Amino acid sequence: MCGIVGYVGSERCSDILVDGLRRLEYRGYDSAGTAIMEGGETHILRSQGKLSNLSVLIDEQKPQGTVGIGHTRWATHGRPSEQNAHPHKYGNVAVVHNGIIENHAALRAELEASGHTFSSETDTEIVAHLIDDAFKETKDSLESVRQALCRLEGAYAISVLLDGVPDQIICARQDAPLILGVGENENYIASDVPAILNRTRDMIFLEEGDIAVVRAEGIAISTLDGKSVERKPQKIMWDAMMAEKGGHKHFMLKEIFEQPRAVTDTIRDRVSPTTGDAFIDDFDVDMETLRRVVIVACGTSYHAALVGKFLIESMARIPVEVDLGSEFRYRDPLINKHDLLVGVSQSGETADTLAALREGRGKGARVLSICNVVGSTIPRESDGVLYTHAGPEIGVASTKAFTTQLAALTLLGIHLGRRTGALTEPKAKELINDLLALPEQMKEVLDHSATVDVIARRYANARDFLYLGRGMNYPIALEGALKLKEISYIHAEGYPAGEMKHGPIALIDENLPVVVLAPRGSGYEKIINNLAEVRAREGKVIAIASRGDNEIGNKVDDVIQIPDVRTELQPLLTVLPLQMLAYRIADIRGTDVDQPRNLAKSVTVE
Ligand code: M6R
Repeated sequence: MCGIVGYVGSERCSDILVDGLRRLEYRGYDSAGTAIMEGGETHILRSQGKLSNLSVLIDEQKPQGTVGIGHTRWATHGRPSEQNAHPHKYGNVAVVHNGIIENHAALRAELEASGHTFSSETDTEIVAHLIDDAFKETKDSLESVRQALCRLEGAYAISVLLDGVPDQIICARQDAPLILGVGENENYIASDVPAILNRTRDMIFLEEGDIAVVRAEGIAISTLDGKSVERKPQKIMWDAMMAEKGGHKHFMLKEIFEQPRAVTDTIRDRVSPTTGDAFIDDFDVDMETLRRVVIVACGTSYHAALVGKFLIESMARIPVEVDLGSEFRYRDPLINKHDLLVGVSQSGETADTLAALREGRGKGARVLSICNVVGSTIPRESDGVLYTHAGPEIGVASTKAFTTQLAALTLLGIHLGRRTGALTEPKAKELINDLLALPEQMKEVLDHSATVDVIARRYANARDFLYLGRGMNYPIALEGALKLKEISYIHAEGYPAGEMKHGPIALIDENLPVVVLAPRGSGYEKIINNLAEVRAREGKVIAIASRGDNEIGNKVDDVIQIPDVRTELQPLLTVLPLQMLAYRIADIRGTDVDQPRNLAKSVTVE
């Protein structure tokens, strides 16, 4: 969850490191630091809190070195403080780390017993101690790092600088992402692509267990057991501008407005309105043996997966189970070669989703991932991948990743439906035509969000919110509530509307805004009854309703209209006003929208 950058070249590296860290700050922002080579020794600068604090230090001290590493932290072991900020230096060794060293307590006790003293509470600091000890013995930097890594259990992406070896960075990965950027007489290290996209588009994705020695003139990669390996650079097609705010106040707002384009890019070239087919890139499902689809994901991606269950079951008539990565992996799941296991992840690095996929694959299931980040770990460990083309998502609150995941799951539903025959050609053609028209309707919803602004102002100080939906809109209620709580810090719950009378109805009074997803279609009458029950108890009802539903206005306090579309495609529209509502409320409350407290974009630890 932390972010790592590194640079080896001929330019002064402090600005490059800070710029990279700025782009990685969404991974964590409890503290930041750099280690820069100056006169053969690393010079460490660290500060608690946001990167801007570190920038002030760098501006004051103006380090001149051209080789350096940087880190932005999301605290796991040890509170956020300058003392616990990375890099951690011990002896000749400076280290930055992303991940968790699970046997750190035992290693720390062992090192303390042999006379080491520690200056932080982190698990990371032991890595610097181990490398320094090994270096004293071997005088070989790569060998020392390798020996230290062999003692570690857990997940790590690390970058290391050694005093006296000024022209290189050694880095390694195991269960945490790390990429190398290839330049002309300069090279880069980063936790992910957008951090260095303004410097190079040629990226090497390190594999599990790789160790790289990165110098300006070249990169040498080997494995933990010392075997040399070649990893070819891949050209990244994302544009550096895509990772900028483009005139918007926040990345989240920009990303909300990018959704029509992102959904178009995700479906374009993968559907044929003339044959009614949808194509899953280079992945073949054996329909003879397929018995079930299991989808695993976390957070917002889990909500997309819940919609996916409805889509696949209704289009293909194949049973679908959905599970949270963190639950699935620990319950000895019943899964086998007759199951298609689908992992949904924006980042492709979420530890729990990755572990769940490994668990299922180990038991014989074929794995398809739906992912946004090319070359990330989850797609690399899958049998097939359906990339969403959202482009870099920087705001911690996921928006365009979600709608592109819905679009990808719709493609999967159509594909499987055509293969089982449950979706006839005429029905598939109609659906595809409606899907292709959807980005324009999404744009319409986003361009007419004045009502959302009024509602946001009215309820910005509410203490709690309730979101209700049925069928495919139930996961959207969950997603609306998640968006609101993560960026505005207002408590919010999503609930299946039919369950309200089994408990949550007790919460309703005149102070509780209730957002009800009530577009026309299946379940409409039932949801109208539910909103009447809320109103009868003085609750304030905000309805998301289909344009042309002239009745609903008399039954609720506010109506946000969306175009009338078929049930399967509604989630792609109903979620938009909820994202916008969460955004506006958070902005009014003055929270840090793109980097909400305690969160990180990629959850690469359990
Ligand atoms: O990268 P992933 O899609 O695997 O991430 C999963 C969740 O961590 C993520 O969706 C998280 O819930 C977002 N902050 C929600 O906005």
